[in-house]
Amino acid sequence: MKNSVHSLLDCRHLNRESLQSLVLRARDLNFAQFQNTEIQLRRSQKIVALVFFEPSTRTSCSFEIAALKLGYRVINLGAHESSLQKGETLLDTLLNLQAMGPSMFVVRHGGSERLSEIRSHIHTPIVSAGEGVAGHPTQALLDLYTIWEARNFLPLDEMKERILFVGDVAHSRVARSNFEVLKNLGFAIGISAPREWVGNLAQDSYIQLFDRVEEGLKWATCVVGLRVQSERHPKVHDEKNMSLVDHFIQNFQINSERLKLLSEDGIVMHPGPVNWGVELSEDVARDPRTKILRQVENGVRIRASVIEEILGRETWAKT
Ligand code: CP
Repeated sequence: MKNSVHSLLDCRHLNRESLQSLVLRARDLNFAQFQNTEIQLRRSQKIVALVFFEPSTRTSCSFEIAALKLGYRVINLGAHESSLQKGETLLDTLLNLQAMGPSMFVVRHGGSERLSEIRSHIHTPIVSAGEGVAGHPTQALLDLYTIWEARNFLPLDEMKERILFVGDVAHSRVARSNFEVLKNLGFAIGISAPREWVGNLAQDSYIQLFDRVEEGLKWATCVVGLRVQSERHPKVHDEKNMSLVDHFIQNFQINSERLKLLSEDGIVMHPGPVNWGVELSEDVARDPRTKILRQVENGVRIRASVIEEILGRETWAKT
């Protein structure tokens, strides 16, 4: 991970070699080896601090489980119990936590401060667990892992995938991080969504736009549904957004009828949480091509691989 000797804030600098090494480590991690008493003793000196200032189920729990399985200890700080409530900034919060000596931070936030700027004031490694609409790097890595697994772990340079994103792409940090990974691998990217939810990504010549989701599904090897992010839509446009959601359901929703157009070995993913009946119809959960819970399962392995990249090298070498 070239940009992450200390931190992982985006996927831009993760070339094919770094990505291959991350997914390989995720696949080959043997958690049982970390139950060795000597390793546990050494690793329990290191603390992973989870700082989640936006809600999370999958990301926060999978980072915690990954760190615990690796033998590290974990502390949790959420927005409601933190001094963020008293007006403390994210930078001050991390500086104060750093003074207590954790080995790394995992941070989710939606505020105006940027982790890329904060990083220069902090010497503790930081992993982004989702930052506003800017990015969600470990989600993109677990998405890649899930596709790679579905292709029987073919070397990444032999894979030729066409990934179609359907939903609220403009407000999606998941899409942004995925685009960084997929471009670095040379995979093709398509978007199918109402123009309001494509935003300025329509200007990216790398990305193919499909006005009709049916055409996109015929083209794609993998389709990713993206959540309609009502909380990031301007409140004044609530009524307009509602009619847009209805338009989306009518014309873009991934349902079993439309999925007949996706190839038999196609893959259906969604980072979650899913608005069932909006991005995906409920019957999609039962389609054998749907990998949504597999993505969640793989999230533990990928996050463990990232934590190992940052904290594990030294102790790994001694084992
Ligand atoms: N995909 C994802 O980030 O889910 P959570 O918000 O539950 O972490």
